[in-house]
Amino acid sequence: MSQSQPRVRTGIIGSQFEADVHAASIAVGQAVQAVAVASPTAGHAQALADRYEIPKAFTDYRKLLDDPDIEMVTIAAPNQLHCQITLEAAAAGKHVVVEKPMAMTIAECDEMISACAAAGVHLFYAEELFFTPKYVKAKEIADQGGLGEVFLVKQTEMHSGPHADWFWDVERSGGGAFMDMGCHGTAFCYWFLGRPQPVAITAHMGTYVHKERTRGDDHSFAVVEFANGAIGQVEDSWARPGGMDDRIEVYGSEGVTYANLHMGNALPTYSEKGYGYAVEKAPTTRGWSYPVFEELWNYGFPQEMDHFARCVRGLEEPRATGRDGRVVQELLFAGYQSAGLGRRVALPFDPGPARRPIDLWFEPVQ
Ligand SMILES: NC(=O)c1ccc[n+]([C@@H]2O[C@H](COP(=O)([O-])OP(=O)(O)OC[C@H]3O[C@@H](n4cnc5c(N)ncnc54)[C@H](O)[C@@H]3O)[C@@H](O)[C@H]2O)c1
Repeated sequence: MSQSQPRVRTGIIGSQFEADVHAASIAVGQAVQAVAVASPTAGHAQALADRYEIPKAFTDYRKLLDDPDIEMVTIAAPNQLHCQITLEAAAAGKHVVVEKPMAMTIAECDEMISACAAAGVHLFYAEELFFTPKYVKAKEIADQGGLGEVFLVKQTEMHSGPHADWFWDVERSGGGAFMDMGCHGTAFCYWFLGRPQPVAITAHMGTYVHKERTRGDDHSFAVVEFANGAIGQVEDSWARPGGMDDRIEVYGSEGVTYANLHMGNALPTYSEKGYGYAVEKAPTTRGWSYPVFEELWNYGFPQEMDHFARCVRGLEEPRATGRDGRVVQELLFAGYQSAGLGRRVALPFDPGPARRPIDLWFEPVQ
């Protein structure tokens, strides 16, 4: 951006996995600058600040929100904190980038959207698949008519299971693989098709490998029907060894495109001794491995952060907002309900008093 458009001064809330992704992405951005980080465990915020030369570190995110120098915050804290932090950030006049899934309930999503609108701040939904270069290219091809009438979009994301304990505790995460990664897949299909209204979902899921560790689903399938007649197929797993797998397939009346996020960007490598790092969640680099290069860029994280900052400066229109997160949240509830009932569930869907999506898998609303 020009001298007259200074970089957007941003505070990062959280200091571990995704906060590191935010810090690394912001560090290579043109429009955004990290000026503070907040995380409760002593030393963690400072360690992230040291790694990325971020000037301020706090143990209480409220101190970060009190800092008048900060214009925007990114929320990379566990799911059940997204709503509370968003409401406080909006009250403090900060633009908000909230990680996926947006919240625990649809009511929370509504509250977050209203609070940000009332405060006159942006609520950006951090769905990086809207920025993933290979997937953006696939959408460009489809939007140019290259595939004819698109009737089926598939998105698959699988790995061996999350890195932090709270994901496995459904009280704190709100769900298993379907909530954690199905939020990406449902958002992706909705966005790819041009945001048609979802009208029904049919899901199946189970806990196949990690029964000892979680009550959450570790492998799930969902079919989403949209008002334009197209369908999305979303498959997610915490039970797939060997590192991250993320791919799409798009079928139209006159064409098809496939994209594998990692393999097409990898260097098939054989190493007897092993080496530093291959790809997210790969357990070893010995033997055959598939190291990715420019991992964050290939996902679209730096592009996403720069875009949000450019929206704050009024240079671009938001491409991922709280409204997208809310659509996804309803699909998460309806998907767990469908798997709980063993049948198709129509939308709009009211989850009643359920406090988290996975509750409806355990006990569907009647
Ligand atoms: N977009 C993606 O692909 C992607 C990938 C991973 C995680 N995420 C999302 O990012 C969020 C964080 O996940 P993660 O993998 O970084 O988890 P993590 O466990 O690695 O890190 C969570 C962080 O939140 C901090 N935290 C906990 N309580 C806090 C509080 N009261 N105030 C401030 N910080 C607090 C923890 O100290 C820790 O630093 C989740 O919502 C997750 O779904 C998104």
